[in-house]
Amino acid sequence: TPGVKPLVAGNWKMNGTGAALGEVRAIVEGLSASGSAVADAMLCVPATLIGRAADAAGGAVLEIGGQDCHAKESGAHTGDVSAEMLRDAGASAVIVGHSERRTDHGETDATVRDKAAAAWRAGVTAIICVGETREQRENGEAERVTSAQLDGSIPDDMTAGNTVIAYEPVWAIGTGLVPSNDDIAAIHALIRDRMEARFGGEGRKVRILYGGSVKSGNAAEIFAIDNVDGGLIGGASLKAADFLAICDAV
Ligand code: G3P
Repeated sequence: TPGVKPLVAGNWKMNGTGAALGEVRAIVEGLSASGSAVADAMLCVPATLIGRAADAAGGAVLEIGGQDCHAKESGAHTGDVSAEMLRDAGASAVIVGHSERRTDHGETDATVRDKAAAAWRAGVTAIICVGETREQRENGEAERVTSAQLDGSIPDDMTAGNTVIAYEPVWAIGTGLVPSNDDIAAIHALIRDRMEARFGGEGRKVRILYGGSVKSGNAAEIFAIDNVDGGLIGGASLKAADFLAICDAV
């Protein structure tokens, strides 16, 4: 999107212990060596690693994010982590509404919306995920489902600074399957139109990432599609060499 700096964000999911910090350091080294970055880079690591990953990143070339937050700031919610805690640990962003959370934890659009609002209150960018299942795609419902998730998952005070949208077709996650370029273009255009209709100039500038089986081999082609402002990368973000190659593809 013209005037918009792309973002390549990794999502480590439930992977990585202290032993994986070497990958974080290698990513920081690689990004630093490649000089002036045309894209922002971020790694969303497990909550247990945020502090150490943020220390390893040192703040400059690589942002650190979380993968989920609670909708409240603090309180009697055993096992949960608030956006304030993520920020305190060194995160500048948090993924909310990933399809794995919608499926594994029954998160609804309303839950996701509350979590996004919580992220904003903590001064943390919300990376809000939407996308259809295989069955919905086969039934011709991809547009309808994605639009409905988008409408329901974003609070009213969205800005291009506090939010990133990620389109992740569920059937493309971890499967090696990727929609055709035309299909990606169609959904991203739909998301852009909807964001612009609801949020005006902020919707025109908000970054819309594609996620689902992005690898070094297909990244350049995907990133060249209109309204694709970078990617949300799962498996291929776990190894520094793969992630750096994807950052280079912007
Ligand atoms: O959030 C990113 C993710 O769901 C995509 O995973 O492994 O298909 O790149 P992967």
